[in-house]
Amino acid sequence: MKEMTKRALSDAFAGESMAHMKYIIYSDIAREEGYSNVARLFEAIAYAERVHARNHARLLGLLGKTVGNLRKSVDGESFEIEEMYPVYKNTASLQGEKAAEISNNYALEAEKIHQTMYAESKKDVAKGKDIKLAEVYVCPVCGYTHEGNPPDKCPVCNASSKTFKKF
Ligand code: FE2
Ligand code: FE2
Ligand code: FE2
Repeated sequence: MKEMTKRALSDAFAGESMAHMKYIIYSDIAREEGYSNVARLFEAIAYAERVHARNHARLLGLLGKTVGNLRKSVDGESFEIEEMYPVYKNTASLQGEKAAEISNNYALEAEKIHQTMYAESKKDVAKGKDIKLAEVYVCPVCGYTHEGNPPDKCPVCNASSKTFKKF
C-alpha cells in the first residue's frame, strides 16, 4: 500500500475506534437517563463504526488468527503495565491531578490481570484448543476483571461485587 494511503487509513482506524467507544458509552448514559431508543441508536451506529474500523484494520494487516491476536494482546497489555500507565500515573501524581492518578491506577491494576489471562489463553490456543473459562466478572467502577465467583468487594476500588458485570 502507498505510504500516504496507509497513514490515512491508520488515522481513520483510530478515529473510527474512538467513535465506536464513545458511542457505546453514550449509549450507556442514554439508557441510564431513560432514553432507551436513543441508547439503541447509539449502539447501532457504534456497531457501524466498528465495521468501518474492522475494514480499515484488515487492510492495514492488523488482524490475524486468534493465537496471533492473543500474542499481540499480551504485548499491548505488557506495554501498558510496564511503561504507559506507570508513566501516566506518575505524571498525574507529579502534577497533583488526583482523579487522573486514580483513573490511571485503576487501568494499571486491571491490565495486569488481562495480561495473565491472555498469556494463559494463548497456551491452549497454540495447541488448537479452546480455553476453559468460568463466568468472568468485571467491576464497573475500575475494570477489575475476575474469573469465577468474585470476592465481596472489589480488591482494587472496594466497590461491592453485586455491581459487577458478568460475561
Ligand atoms: Fe464510521
Ligand atoms: Fe486491558
Ligand atoms: Fe473496582
